[in-house]
Amino acid sequence: MFSPQTIKKDFPIFTYHPARNATHSVAGGPDLVYLDSAATTLKPRVVIEAEKEYLEHYSANIARGLYPLAEKATEKFEMVREKVSTFIGAESAKEIIFTSGTTDSLNLAARLLASRLEAGDTIITTAMEHHSNFLPWKELAKKNGLHFRVIPLTEKGTIDIEILKNTIDERTKIVAFSAVSNVLGTINPVKEITTLIKNINPSTIVVIDAAQAVSHMPIDVSEWNADFVAFSGHKMFGPTGVGILYGKSSLLNTLSPVTFGGGMVIDACADETVYKEAPYRFEAGTPNIGGIIALGTAIDYMKSIGMENIQKYEHTLTVYALNRLRETFGENIHIIGPTYPEKQSGIIAFTLSTIHPHDIAATLGEHDICVRAGEHCASPLHKSLGLHATTRISFSIYNSKKDIDKCIAILEEIQTMFSK
Ligand code: ALA
Repeated sequence: MFSPQTIKKDFPIFTYHPARNATHSVAGGPDLVYLDSAATTLKPRVVIEAEKEYLEHYSANIARGLYPLAEKATEKFEMVREKVSTFIGAESAKEIIFTSGTTDSLNLAARLLASRLEAGDTIITTAMEHHSNFLPWKELAKKNGLHFRVIPLTEKGTIDIEILKNTIDERTKIVAFSAVSNVLGTINPVKEITTLIKNINPSTIVVIDAAQAVSHMPIDVSEWNADFVAFSGHKMFGPTGVGILYGKSSLLNTLSPVTFGGGMVIDACADETVYKEAPYRFEAGTPNIGGIIALGTAIDYMKSIGMENIQKYEHTLTVYALNRLRETFGENIHIIGPTYPEKQSGIIAFTLSTIHPHDIAATLGEHDICVRAGEHCASPLHKSLGLHATTRISFSIYNSKKDIDKCIAILEEIQTMFSK
């Protein structure tokens, strides 16, 4: 197992020294307690260097130029497609579409599928979804006269499988759900749910939002048997502005492009425009080349630590944090989500007494402790729980039990302060 102290050395943000007179860190530093990795992970030095190297030494466009710089950029870029493909267990690199992030990936999936839908069809999603895996489907349903069904959750914060089973029928065209909830931390049994859906209606397209899974556990999209899987580079130690839409080859090859421009066409002058094969026909325009190359380095970095090791380590932190929060605050803390760690990734959302989560997050911030407060872009979930907001802590490999202790000590101070 690795040590978070060693890992921290890989992340320049922890070695930055804030100005001597700074009351608290506004630019990282050794005292930073970063518990907001569900929003975005910090970036290791190797990733920053990889993007810098592209920008400084070979920042040519890809798939166009015939000179060595452009060839190098193209080769490095396409190597990342291979890396992503192997990393997530895809059958071929041709199943990997580069996008700008999970939101872009899920919106693209919705636009690609639009032409297959007819009025009266059904799209199903769940009450635990991030807005990115909710609104594109809701809008698609509205525009095409489709039924839009939202599967509720059980008391334990898991998808109500019985209701899901009873909702799927022959008109169900799409079911979209997350691998891991960005608020509850619930780890959904993706393979089992996909099998259940396809047993009832084999032609249903299953779309997985894997944004909160991909840097926390090994994933295998072929084993999941999902049709589309979306995730972001910035939640897996890579840069912002890059993401992936995995699509099963057998599906991608039947879909027409929805964004048009350079780099995706073979014959633009023919009456019937001839487009490139998948995935290139879905990637019009110049992508974020340096960002995608750096994403490849982020994958190398995670692999050097080992996804099983990452999962085990974050599990230890989650168990520790759940126990300490319960011991310390007893009935005053309300933790939402499964709260039994086999089903919970390193994301813990809670309310504490009647203190507003924004007050909690702002006060923790004054002590260099970064957490997120609010609805976390998951208002259907909060509404279903009768909550306006929660405070969320989320872990990654650079966190330690000391971070959790520090956060809990300040939470105790906050509780005292707000009870006066
Ligand atoms: N989706 C990110 C989060 O849950 C931004 O915070």
